[in-house]
Amino acid sequence: MKNGVQQLEGRHFLTLNDYTPDQVHTLIDHSLKFKLGKLTAQFHDRYAVNLFFEDSTRTHKSFEMAERKSGMQVLDFSPETSSIKKGESLYDTVKTFEAIGVDLVVIRHGQEAFYEELIHTPGLNCSIVNGGDGAGQHPSQSLLDLMTIYEEFKTFQNLKIAIAGDIRHSRVAKSNAQILKKLGAEIYFTGPEEWMDASLQTYGTHVEMDALIDKVDVLMLLRVQHERHSNLEQVFSKEDYLKKYGLTVERERRMNEKSIIMHPAPVNRGVEIATELVECQRSRIFKQMENGVYARMAIIDSLLNEH
Ligand code: CP
Repeated sequence: MKNGVQQLEGRHFLTLNDYTPDQVHTLIDHSLKFKLGKLTAQFHDRYAVNLFFEDSTRTHKSFEMAERKSGMQVLDFSPETSSIKKGESLYDTVKTFEAIGVDLVVIRHGQEAFYEELIHTPGLNCSIVNGGDGAGQHPSQSLLDLMTIYEEFKTFQNLKIAIAGDIRHSRVAKSNAQILKKLGAEIYFTGPEEWMDASLQTYGTHVEMDALIDKVDVLMLLRVQHERHSNLEQVFSKEDYLKKYGLTVERERRMNEKSIIMHPAPVNRGVEIATELVECQRSRIFKQMENGVYARMAIIDSLLNEH
């Protein structure tokens, strides 16, 4: 079914930096229309496969839900039982799926910009979607975050947004700082200064949590990536981290009436955020997950709709 709206150009979805602000707004608009049932997709004769080489619950299953809601047929894939175990490369794996008729390949991979070799393959006849590349980008997470913020505030202009925590290891921090700045938001970073990423200093300044908490419209907490720190327990106990850098009940009380809490999840309860705040009135954490399905339907539609 044709949606009758302007479509976006491009065969792959790799980073939101590839899009103009108008195109990002079109993607947000489409995501919201899918949520409201004002847009539908019926790609019944189209096939998807999700290649997840890093652990995932939300992104993997949310893409699968979006693919199924869009009418697609979804092939199973597990790296553990595939010919990757025999040494087959990512390139040959993707070419295999292309050869057997897959239209959409969603990939999460530990290597930053894993997609470079794939997208420069002449005549590659399937769409590649970046489901997270190392510490690079997480564009579908960014789109669902933008959708959630826009749903709340109807603008990005001059919104004060703090990105808090394990910034250097976070593809969510990078993707969101870049696109939110481009859309007119004021970006701040907070958390351990040694976890700041120097490359992000052009997007916003680093400020102590206590100096920010009563000023921000959006507090975007990040997961402490235990798997990427070798001696974390020696540096901070959970309690220390929460007290120094996390969202405690006392800090939440100082937030503006209309401000919201976000987190891409999975959440370390009692580390980045006090456990009782995960589902509090201003938390949008589960709303983000709900919105993720519709944001991913909009991404699929932008890649497969041929009008
Ligand atoms: N937010 C996110 O990317 O979660 P998963 O790692 O579970 O996909």
